[in-house]
Amino acid sequence: MYKTKLYILLILIGIISCKEEKTTVATTTDHLEKKVNNLLAKMTLEEKIGQLNLRGTSSRVKGALPEELKQAVREGKIGAFLNVMNTEYVDELQKIAINESPNKIPLIFARDVIHGFKTIFPIPLGLAASWDTKVAEASSRVAAVEASSYGVRWTFAPMLDIARDSRWGRIAESPGEDPYLASKLGEAYVKGFQGDSLNDPTSMIACAKHFIGYGAAIGGRDYNTAIINKELLQNVYLPPFKAAFKAGSQTVMTSFNETNGIPASGDKKLLKDILRKQLHFDGFVVSDWNSVTEMIPHGFAKDEKHAAEIGINAGMNMEMTSKSYENHAKKLLEEGKISEKQITSLVADILRVKFRMGLFKNPKRDANNSGNLYAKEHLELAKQAAIKSSVLLKNDKNILPLDKKTKIAVIGPLANKPREQLGTWTFDGDKAHSITPTMAFTKEEVAFNFVEGLSFSRDTSEKEFKKAVNAAKKSDVIVFIGGEEAILSGEAHSRANINLPGAQEKLIKELAKTGKPVVLVIMAGRPITLTNIIEEVDAVLMTWHPGTMGGEAIYDMLFGNQEPTGRLPVTWPKTAGQLPLFYNHKNTGRPASKEEFVHIDSIPIGAWQSSLGNTSHYLDVGFTPHFPFGYGLGYTTFQYSNLKLSTNKLTNSNQLEITVAIKNTGERKGEELVQLYVQDVVGSITRPVKELKGFKKVLLKSGEEKTVKFTLSANDLKYYNSELVYGLEKGDFKIWVGKNAANGLKSSFVYE
Ligand code: NOJ
Repeated sequence: MYKTKLYILLILIGIISCKEEKTTVATTTDHLEKKVNNLLAKMTLEEKIGQLNLRGTSSRVKGALPEELKQAVREGKIGAFLNVMNTEYVDELQKIAINESPNKIPLIFARDVIHGFKTIFPIPLGLAASWDTKVAEASSRVAAVEASSYGVRWTFAPMLDIARDSRWGRIAESPGEDPYLASKLGEAYVKGFQGDSLNDPTSMIACAKHFIGYGAAIGGRDYNTAIINKELLQNVYLPPFKAAFKAGSQTVMTSFNETNGIPASGDKKLLKDILRKQLHFDGFVVSDWNSVTEMIPHGFAKDEKHAAEIGINAGMNMEMTSKSYENHAKKLLEEGKISEKQITSLVADILRVKFRMGLFKNPKRDANNSGNLYAKEHLELAKQAAIKSSVLLKNDKNILPLDKKTKIAVIGPLANKPREQLGTWTFDGDKAHSITPTMAFTKEEVAFNFVEGLSFSRDTSEKEFKKAVNAAKKSDVIVFIGGEEAILSGEAHSRANINLPGAQEKLIKELAKTGKPVVLVIMAGRPITLTNIIEEVDAVLMTWHPGTMGGEAIYDMLFGNQEPTGRLPVTWPKTAGQLPLFYNHKNTGRPASKEEFVHIDSIPIGAWQSSLGNTSHYLDVGFTPHFPFGYGLGYTTFQYSNLKLSTNKLTNSNQLEITVAIKNTGERKGEELVQLYVQDVVGSITRPVKELKGFKKVLLKSGEEKTVKFTLSANDLKYYNSELVYGLEKGDFKIWVGKNAANGLKSSFVYE
């Protein structure tokens, strides 16, 4: 590793040239291929099939390591394990693999380390709201350092599914709705997990998932069918994966869903033509849990053997938990339905990654790596991540930040729920380390009165309402901390209604009747529709599920020690009936507009059937979201002016420089996220009304002004047309620089 760093440094300072680097890279590749081939030459067919087997165990298993598992490793029948969370087992299994298995091939130990291992960061949708690649990278680095101390060297993250429907439970794990933002985050996560070098003992190989279209499940129902046309696949769903592969993600996971009739784990075109040929992926593919045998209920494979045949022929390398390869590959070979060459090639992909990870030289868990679990720096990073992820949605009369002398009634089912604030996919995060809001308030000696009001987010009992209202009456401000328990989002936890569950809305209405200002702090795995209560509350702070340090982060934001700087990575609907909803939609032939909008109540009784003047909207809720993509307030205000383009003619040989002046017009220092959007007005296929093409953060003192600059080239505007030609067509473009997708200074240019 030291040598690699030195080498890069020498190139950077020009002591050796890149030409030499290419020779070295080629030599390294040859060397690696030689090692892989030498090993393959010694392996039996059984051992090869074994490498394709990812054996899942339950992390809750107690007692001695089952003999059956040890024997399977001894015989070379397992390539990797999932969820072995007992370090003694990890050490013992690896010892058997490298000392007793036929060719001493090390195992890889995998785990879902999604947004932290022990120190839990905000859920990925929250991290996406930070629009901060440094936060994404640092959080995944910490996760890798902590998890690798348990022997986990492979994480099933980052999840890069574009999500346009907040009903979908797994939107919590997603990077949101935008391919540009998701690509930047994907790249950062991979860098963080994998670190500087794959063979560093704290490196965890990444797994970009779920390939592909999992977030496009019809109606937001998890595991459901996706229908994605080929341009959409290329322009929206694939880019984050492309970015992750470019950043070096060593693995990719096929999704549970079918897209256009083909389940991902058996989709030959997807796994061969798109993944390998188009995206140049050179790691290995793992299926999702049983997704190979789930091709049977999908109606794509007739039985387990057929499922194995389809998976192997599609190029799906490693089967997670189901055993169709293990049970049938040999027979399929005898029957000529697959070839040994195919098996060998699938195994080669896996061995290559094992070599890159340095496992053959250094297979053992580093017993000296304590993981620095819950280290002070880890916790501080988690707290900063929670602050940067939080989105201030409403702040009437600048009620926030609160004065430290304010008497507060803290009410709500999530004000003191150490486990719930961690969010989905946090098997290893210990709730005993969580700092809840009430803990933070107590530590800071704020004058507050705490009444839960509802004992969990779905609670419908009103028995504590009176007590809560009394507490509110004795205070200056009510801070209601509610939302969704962790279990209401995540895998298999989609909701048809996404408002505050249980009697939370009712309680908020009762509290508002006291006339005291209400600050609503939400912890949830998705946007929560607020239409029923938005008028009752004075401020809304969305903290997603903020993780271990959520309470301290919330305290700091409420009292203005720090400013929430998150911006929405998803469009926030008024009602679930608007979903799917996303800013980068198409215009339609009858674009919705304020002028043409007809509200349901303004239609005369007995009106004659007519479509004239009507546009693409809902009669009852219109066409705008509650809060647009990119939206978020801070504790100061910013003014945008002087938008300038260096040229209004973009060509293949020039670049467009876009500058804009941003001034802090408020009274305190603050950070603004400046967003750049473009519209390609006419195309051989219709183009979205807006597409994010850049974002930059700018920190300004009160009264300070700075110029923010973006650069665009023709390459940044390319897209796939209906012939799947990647390019750019000549014509007019609109450009906006602003605070969110619904706002901005506007200009235009031509591409010639
Ligand atoms: C199923 C989930 O879809 C996937 O994301 C996860 O990595 C695997 N289970 C393993 O736990």
